[in-house]
Amino acid sequence: MNQKIIIAIDGPAGSGKSTTARIVAKRLNYIYIDTGAMYRAVTLAWLKSGLELDEQNVNNIVDNITINLIQGEQQQIVLLNNEDITQEIRKPEITKFVSPISAMGYIRKKMVAQQREMGKFGGVVMDGRDIGTVVFPKAELKIFLIANAEERAKRRLKELSLVGINQSFDEILQSIVQRDQYDSSRDISPLSKADDAIELDTTNITIDEQCNFIIDRALKIIERFNKFCG
Ligand code: DC
Repeated sequence: MNQKIIIAIDGPAGSGKSTTARIVAKRLNYIYIDTGAMYRAVTLAWLKSGLELDEQNVNNIVDNITINLIQGEQQQIVLLNNEDITQEIRKPEITKFVSPISAMGYIRKKMVAQQREMGKFGGVVMDGRDIGTVVFPKAELKIFLIANAEERAKRRLKELSLVGINQSFDEILQSIVQRDQYDSSRDISPLSKADDAIELDTTNITIDEQCNFIIDRALKIIERFNKFCG
């Protein structure tokens, strides 16, 4: 039998997690799960509600929505109450509010439960901030991607312009630095590297190089797994 492992890819905004996780999943024939999209979906639901940014309001909203991630041919499709919001959640106004919303305890509890359910049979590459520390602390392979803030802002600028969102380099850089600060200093499950995660600095390497690095390690672990399980 072919054993399927869990690969956790964490790191700050723009460190290349999504692109890397998507390619690695495709090459291993695994499912790719972008958990940031789930927090973005909650943020969109809150924005649409027109209610104040108050924890109780957001808690009520999250109890009354459904978020589904579907494996598309080119990308992960995100559904909020069965409506496709894949593009909408990339807008700067969502990015602006997603950090405070993702710091709320009840929201995290709900999202983490859904993420564990989605990954429980293995065969997933999940990217986020707390996958290796909280969601799947026993993941067989944990990667922590880093890159300097300027390089990350450059990548975001390119990504956003591809989907027709125009923001200046300085605005993006500022938002990245603010988000790093917020995500790393929140009380619940802050962004941090798991002790047993492999840190990979992607500032000066190509996407291909970083994917090959992860796939090499994954294949070795899968091989060991298969031998062990006979
Ligand atoms: O990866 P991203 O930029 O789409 O993530 C959006 C926000 O969601 C990010 O600022 C932090 C939060 N997030 C989180 O707290 N935990 C995760 N597992 C994924 C994202």
